[in-house]
Amino acid sequence: MDIRFEQPGDASAIDAVQQAAFPHPEEARIVELLRADGDLTISIVAEIDGRCVGHVALSPIRLAGQPTAGLGLGPIGVVPECQGQSVGSQLMQAALAASAQAGYEWIILLGNPRYYQRFGFTPASAYGLTNIYDNSDAFQIVILPGGSAPASGGLIEYAPAFQNAGA
Ligand SMILES: CC(C)(COP(=O)(O)OP(=O)(O)OC[C@H]1O[C@@H](n2cnc3c(N)ncnc32)[C@H](O)[C@@H]1OP(=O)(O)O)[C@@H](O)C(=O)NCCC(=O)NCCS
Repeated sequence: MDIRFEQPGDASAIDAVQQAAFPHPEEARIVELLRADGDLTISIVAEIDGRCVGHVALSPIRLAGQPTAGLGLGPIGVVPECQGQSVGSQLMQAALAASAQAGYEWIILLGNPRYYQRFGFTPASAYGLTNIYDNSDAFQIVILPGGSAPASGGLIEYAPAFQNAGA
């Protein structure tokens, strides 16, 4: 398996992966809009035998209306026939490493805690963070190595693509 950053020409393969991974087209549309808006801060693909089988996107987030040292992770998708083979885990590890390498300090996401806690994610509510979608334990944060937690709580806003895609 090859885990690498998105390169020019990958967009349609990434679209196909996100369309296959999720039951609705919104996630693929989010990636497309993030790219168009210049908000696809980190975009990583997984390839097996030259075929793109997984993708993860990270984009800027705002906290209490201000830019942050954090990123929002998602969507992450793996084509159904390759799920459960650690593709997602390798994408997650690469996403964390690339974010830290780029100087980001923390990452938030919305997802099943059973999956994401293995990568160090914990409930973001403990930091006083909220979002407009889901404030259960699905809303999670990881502080990256060498990074500091958000200095204060408040409303986390995802990049505009998330609302504009209808998700
Ligand atoms: C979630 C996803 C990216 C994980 O990728 P993957 O390659 O299948 O995951 P891995 O092989 O690295 O890890 C498999 C483990 O994840 C667990 N897992 C996979 N999807 C899960 C989910 N949605 N919720 C909870 N656990 C999940 C599996 O049960 C397995 O657990 P185990 O290691 O204890 O046996 C992939 O399953 C996927 O694309 N799902 C559909 C889209 C989706 O739901 N994306 C995430 C939205 S938050």
